[in-house]
Amino acid sequence: MEYEIKKFSDLEYAMQNDVANKVAAYTNGELGEIPQMLPVQPEDVFKKFVGFVALHETTFAGFVGSADPIEWAGLLMPEVGSLWVPKEFRNHGVANSLVRTISDYLLGEGLQPFAFVNPKSNSIFNRNGYLDAVNGEIPDSAFGLCKGCKHKPANGCCDRVVIYTGAKG
Ligand SMILES: CC(C)(COP(=O)(O)OP(=O)(O)OC[C@H]1O[C@@H](n2cnc3c(N)ncnc32)[C@H](O)[C@@H]1OP(=O)(O)O)[C@@H](O)C(=O)NCCC(=O)NCCS
Repeated sequence: MEYEIKKFSDLEYAMQNDVANKVAAYTNGELGEIPQMLPVQPEDVFKKFVGFVALHETTFAGFVGSADPIEWAGLLMPEVGSLWVPKEFRNHGVANSLVRTISDYLLGEGLQPFAFVNPKSNSIFNRNGYLDAVNGEIPDSAFGLCKGCKHKPANGCCDRVVIYTGAKG
């Protein structure tokens, strides 16, 4: 499958709006799939520090975004998240390309990315240089966001926390 990756802010407004609505709809469980991430609203997608979109011809085929960097342990750390590829475009390497693109961008800005991953996305992040974070490496405030997750299990956060190390798995 052919696709290209574009920066969200470089898209025309109508396309940005379409992407933001689709990402929000997925994260709020409106597309018939139990969402695997925190719910966001369309305006949250517009407010991302940076976002990247996969397009198959002119059709939306995936999104990843980053929150504003948090100052922590002498570093500026953006959380990469809202990684979503619609079912019909999965297993073609779209998520891999999105994670690679946003990571290269953030590293180019001198930032230290991290992410909360699930069993499906863990290998994608590993392949792109992310490994399990150790205690204290991730900003404390990042864990607070998990409180808003509707799918949080009783025993805490279901995701692993990974940090970019450059070591590709
Ligand atoms: C997780 C998710 C983003 C993955 O998207 P995707 O585009 O299918 O991911 P990729 O295609 O890059 O990788 C998926 C698999 O396809 C394989 N693959 C990669 N390129 C491929 C290609 N060109 N052809 C066939 N398979 C390919 C990968 O090796 C990977 O296999 P692995 O899981 O055994 O490592 C997608 O399933 C999704 O949106 N899920 C719901 C939301 C979610 O869980 N998001 C993550 C939150 S942390």
